[in-house]
Amino acid sequence: MLPHSAPGRSPTTALLLGLLITLAAVVACSWYVTRQISGLRDLQTNLVDRNRKDSLQLLRIQNDLNSLALAMRDMLDADEPYPLTAWSTQFQRIRTDLEDALRVEEQVAVATRTPEQRQFLGNSLAQFWDAADRIFALARDGKQAEARARIRLSLQARQAALSTAVARLLVENNESEEQATQRINDIYNRVQRQVYFFLAATLLAIVLTSLYLIYSNRRLFTQLAELSEHRSELAQKLIATQESTLRYISRELHDEFGQILTAIGSMLARAGKDVPEGSPLRVELREVSQIAQSTLDNVRSLSQALHPVTLDESGLENTLDWYLPTVERQTGIVISYEKSGTSFPVDGSTGIHIYRILQEALNNVARHSGARQAWVRLQFLSDSLQLEVEDHGSGFVAQSPKQGIGLVAMRERAELMGGTIEFLQLPAAGTLVRLRVPRERSDSHGG
Ligand SMILES: Nc1ncnc2c1ncn2[C@@H]1O[C@H](COP(=O)(O)OP(=O)(O)O)[C@@H](O)[C@H]1O
Ligand SMILES: [Mg+2]
Repeated sequence: MLPHSAPGRSPTTALLLGLLITLAAVVACSWYVTRQISGLRDLQTNLVDRNRKDSLQLLRIQNDLNSLALAMRDMLDADEPYPLTAWSTQFQRIRTDLEDALRVEEQVAVATRTPEQRQFLGNSLAQFWDAADRIFALARDGKQAEARARIRLSLQARQAALSTAVARLLVENNESEEQATQRINDIYNRVQRQVYFFLAATLLAIVLTSLYLIYSNRRLFTQLAELSEHRSELAQKLIATQESTLRYISRELHDEFGQILTAIGSMLARAGKDVPEGSPLRVELREVSQIAQSTLDNVRSLSQALHPVTLDESGLENTLDWYLPTVERQTGIVISYEKSGTSFPVDGSTGIHIYRILQEALNNVARHSGARQAWVRLQFLSDSLQLEVEDHGSGFVAQSPKQGIGLVAMRERAELMGGTIEFLQLPAAGTLVRLRVPRERSDSHGG
């Protein structure tokens, strides 16, 4: 007996889950990468770019402060022939540039700078210009020596303090830029790691889903094969049961009823002889005797149709010679019968299958094709026996919802004989049923 497997759960849920996990991993990965990239962009524009712009302005300020330092050194130089007021315009020009630079710098300065830091530069510069203005006022009043002393005492010191402050800011900017670079690198590394992780997870999900798909597919195919085998087994049992029942009924009809009817016939004949010639009873007895004879003929032909004894006694070919004219008579279909090849004996069980297939094919021609003519060809080939039944009728139309089991039984019988059966649509119109049974099965298979 075949193992009976329980109808398994449908794999759809698990497969959908696998698909969902895969999709979720992909979406999560995309979202994560997008977020990291936008974080990177923010870092780049908000910190690194601003830092660079800020450093540029700081360098400009530093440059201006250096110019001031040079100017002051020249002003203190005793060899210079010019009065101190001659530097006033240069100071003014540097002042304009410095103020502009300071304004721009305050706009781009990175937010991390403290308010004190922000104010320090501006305040220090304001004080520097205050002192410078006062020194130029002294110089204009002719107090050159006092003005020089003030330059040395206060102005140069203020300039130095400013320079130091700017230098410190530059260093800070550098440091924060380095930190930003480090952070950017960290982000890149992290993203790379996470993307690998996501990729591995996605691949794993895909592999698991695919494996499950393969597994459930295989299980499905096994179940299908088992089912098909069950079905086939059942059909073959049915066929065997049908055959033995038909054979039994056929034999009973032939032997029991046949003998009874024969006995009745001969008794009537004998009784008729005892009745005087010309009496009405004798006429009636002859009529009853004729009825008994025709019933006997009917019983014999019914018995023959149910299970042709000729099949067992004189083989398939003789059975067809008797059967085809019978079908013509019963159905009114004209059958052209052709036999070709060197005939070989066909054993009983194969013979009955071929006979049943022919019976069903001709039945179908009569019932479904609408054709009034059919062709039956029996071909003894070198390695097989081929039976063809052809009609030029309607051909197979679209599958009718209520199908009989004729075609199924034909297939099962063909399989039982180790042969093949084809149902072909003819190009013009009509159907060709082609059965092929291997020779070793048809003439040696014991029955
Ligand atoms: N020779 C034929 N010509 C046209 N249609 C056919 C022919 N043989 C079979 N068919 C179609 O195939 C169907 C199945 O045939 P079958 O299995 O023998 O069942 P049934 O004869 O009981 O309907 C038929 O109902 C018919 O539609
Ligand atoms: Mg049929």
